[in-house]
Amino acid sequence: MKHITCIEDLRELHKRRVPKAFFDYADRGSYSEETLRANRADLQQIKFRQRVLVDISKRDLSTNILGEPAAMPLILAPVGLLGMQHGDGEILACRAAQAAGIPFTQSTMSICSIEDIASSVDKPFWFQLYVMKDRGFIKSLIERAIAVKCSALVLTVDLQVIGQRHQDIKNGMTVPPEWSVSKLIDFATKPTWVSGILRGKRRTFGNLVGHLKGTDDVTALSVWINSQFDTTLNWKDIDWIRSIWPGKLILKGILDVEDAEIAAKTGAQAIVVSNHGGRQLDGAPSSIEVLPEIADSVGSRMEIMFDGGIRSGQDVMRALALGAKSCMIGRAYAYGLGAGGQEGVAKAIEVIAKELTTTMGLCGVNTIAEIGDDVLAV
Ligand code: GLV
Repeated sequence: MKHITCIEDLRELHKRRVPKAFFDYADRGSYSEETLRANRADLQQIKFRQRVLVDISKRDLSTNILGEPAAMPLILAPVGLLGMQHGDGEILACRAAQAAGIPFTQSTMSICSIEDIASSVDKPFWFQLYVMKDRGFIKSLIERAIAVKCSALVLTVDLQVIGQRHQDIKNGMTVPPEWSVSKLIDFATKPTWVSGILRGKRRTFGNLVGHLKGTDDVTALSVWINSQFDTTLNWKDIDWIRSIWPGKLILKGILDVEDAEIAAKTGAQAIVVSNHGGRQLDGAPSSIEVLPEIADSVGSRMEIMFDGGIRSGQDVMRALALGAKSCMIGRAYAYGLGAGGQEGVAKAIEVIAKELTTTMGLCGVNTIAEIGDDVLAV
């Protein structure tokens, strides 16, 4: 990992080391990928004010996330199928996050189960929930998260139906992986990945198999999601979830001020401003475009987390300047995992931390709390 200097290096390595179907699953977006591109392009347009001759010797990235101390304002977002990017991927990513002093969020669509992670790490992690039609199963999933002492529940609200990702269909992306001839040729050139996967605890959805009917053979993920996910899910269901989950609740996937206003009345402690990394509603605005108005309207009532296109410490600084209290990364650490397991995830976090501390210095800022829109050039 010595020659890795930025997240793009991890992406390149991930692409070389992991079969195309799984790399593309993480890397690509829905339909024509307009929103995927807008997330990055709009962040890159935001310019900083360079400030000089300020004492920047006491720079400090530490902050609080939902009342808990964190080493920096960064969270590992829920990402499905991490255990297909690297054997036991969820456990490794969680360990890297905890070693770096930041939260890790486990996806419902994980390969390792909640219990697999809990028995492999020392500290609590967050659990992300998708609501499926089988509400009895969802209740039991929340109870499993309570039983292992997950410290926050992240309810994803922007995926009742799945936005089509053309590339997943073209690649025949299945879970567990299908051993077709073209896949075998691909796997043959990725021996480290294959041995990691074969050594891993599981090769299918650990939270679901054995608990939810119809999960033994998930094959085409999008078809399966569209048959299992509950399209009736609505604001009233938040009360039902809160009646089961007593802890901190985060609503992930808010992109509209009106929805943010409703979210602020649900009792949830935080929202994640997100368009699901450009994987859902193609043509939606970038997350950074809507962040300032959402932060203005509800930022004093709930914690605002930002998700969408973060690939650097500069991007974290941009989002904080526009009203976020912390940022989630998804692809940035998934690339690290595919590139080099736990060490790769640690590298992704370290790269972003270093970029953030340097950017703060060059903008004349010492603490996270000092970052406001005055660090930006207009
Ligand atoms: C699931 O959350 C996905 O975006 O694939």
